[in-house]
Amino acid sequence: MDLREFIKKCEKANELKRVKKEIDWNLELSHVSIVNDEKDRYALLFENVKDYKNPVLTGAFSSKERLAIALGMKPGTSMCEMSREWMKLSTKKHIPPVKVKTGPILDRIVEGGNVNLFDFPVPFMYPGDGGRFIGTTHYLVTKDPETGWVNCGTYRMQILDEKSCGIQIIKGKHADFMLKKYQKMGKKMPAQDAGSYGYRRRSARIFNRICSDFCRCIGV
Ligand SMILES: Cc1cc2nc3c(=O)[nH]c(=O)nc-3n(C[C@H](O)[C@H](O)[C@H](O)COP(=O)(O)O)c2cc1C
Repeated sequence: MDLREFIKKCEKANELKRVKKEIDWNLELSHVSIVNDEKDRYALLFENVKDYKNPVLTGAFSSKERLAIALGMKPGTSMCEMSREWMKLSTKKHIPPVKVKTGPILDRIVEGGNVNLFDFPVPFMYPGDGGRFIGTTHYLVTKDPETGWVNCGTYRMQILDEKSCGIQIIKGKHADFMLKKYQKMGKKMPAQDAGSYGYRRRSARIFNRICSDFCRCIGV
């Protein structure tokens, strides 16, 4: 299931509302999302984000019903059953990578000098934040330079300028161990972001599964 199909299914199940009114990416979008999310009600698709043409989806996985939709399970499935399914999917049912020449992910490729991270409608979440967080519910994919083992970890990522992001890797996390090995070798650590921005932990968990499939699909 891709995101568009997920949105359609949520809408059919009365789990999603479209916000047509113009909403500012600067604090307003996160505020509306959080107030809505606290009531555990709808996923919101902001279709009219100030300065942008692209929509923003929030609260995608912040209800039991939407988690069931994402996992392809029946409405009313218990969290316990979903956790079991999750364990099956994430440990036993890995999707092997298939290399393709075409596909929606390749529809629009922006490279080099044309890259501008501010082209994405990334919300400014909270007063006091240092900037706009493009990675909060995403995966940073890194490879151990000695063993080749691949890690996917959620490490917050902030846009610093048009072409760069800063990432916070706390000591003791797998990416930190790997980074130290690269530093010892005098090398930069290559990293791939499988990204999304979000603000709630529940969203992160399920998105991590989607991203981990993505990582396997792109063969890292
Ligand atoms: C929404 C969310 C944001 C997180 N942000 C960070 C972060 O900025 N830096 C960090 O080191 N860990 C962060 N974490 C915690 C790591 O993702 C978590 O400890 C994970 O288990 C790391 O696993 P690893 O050591 O295998 O990479 C975050 C977790 C979540 C769910």
